[in-house]
Amino acid sequence: MFSDGRCNDQAREAIRLTFHDAVGRSHTLNDSGSFGGGGADGSIIKFADTELADIGNTGLEDIVLALKDFADNHNVSYGDIIQFSGAVGLANCPGSPRLTFYAGRPDAIAPSPPGLVPAPTDPADVLLARMSDAGFTPEETVVLLAAHSVAKQKAVDPSVPNVPLDSTPEVFDTKFYSEMLLNGTCYPGKGSSPAEVKSPSKNVMRLTSDAAIAQHASIASTWRSFAGNHDVMRAAFREVMHKLATQDHADLVDCSFVIPTPALLMRPPAVRPNTENL
Ligand code: HEM
Repeated sequence: MFSDGRCNDQAREAIRLTFHDAVGRSHTLNDSGSFGGGGADGSIIKFADTELADIGNTGLEDIVLALKDFADNHNVSYGDIIQFSGAVGLANCPGSPRLTFYAGRPDAIAPSPPGLVPAPTDPADVLLARMSDAGFTPEETVVLLAAHSVAKQKAVDPSVPNVPLDSTPEVFDTKFYSEMLLNGTCYPGKGSSPAEVKSPSKNVMRLTSDAAIAQHASIASTWRSFAGNHDVMRAAFREVMHKLATQDHADLVDCSFVIPTPALLMRPPAVRPNTENL
């Protein structure tokens, strides 16, 4: 799936799947005894019939099927294959961090309850509360959204499929954060979905949820701190993705050496000063 070395659609789907599997955990449900476990456990593959029925998981059907076959053929757990393929897929996106990969997740024991995947129409307070219930601070939520630097949409407005969430979806860069600070003026399509707000360009879609988080008073400064600061963004994403992938499991084995090293971001070549007329 990733051997062409490109930051392609399969890579995007694999990266998204790491989150949609892992966010299926809840301190509240855990404390009340109604749902234990969850998180990065592969339940989105093992209980695909249940979890893919959740509207928040629309678009993940193909990658779930592909990874199920792969895991079954190679005798590895669904939880492991999801985090492994997300790390390998991201490595195809120049500028990305080299994620860790720890192996040894046991099989999921139950599907995630419905409603745990954050919705793009949710207001910021609801999104941050859901993320907190899943174990992530508001700042960590801002960090995780760096994944939208390499994201496209298909379901928000199907009339303009593959419109990206920033202007450079083939590379992991800070444009997702900086472009969010620009005024929105237009929609890529008709703008009829409540999941999108006006974007600065017809070629980019701005999700309602991303805009809401970017503007939330408690974390607006964290958002701005990533705009133009690639090294900080990349290191922070690596750290929080490690937490997302491992926080539900003890006794995992560090197999990070199998993850390829991503290409560097191409920076514009330095311009040689013209000294002829000096
Ligand atoms: C507040 C939380 C989030 C919301 C509401 C959200 C929502 C969305 C939506 C609506 C799409 C477009 C799906 C489509 O139309 O096909 C999308 C795409 C994507 N998201 Fe998120 N997302 C969130 C967090 C994350 C996180 C934490 C990650 C990964 C760590 C992630 C990774 C991706 C990727 C890679 C895509 C592109 C998928 C593709 O091109 O096939 N998202 N997200």
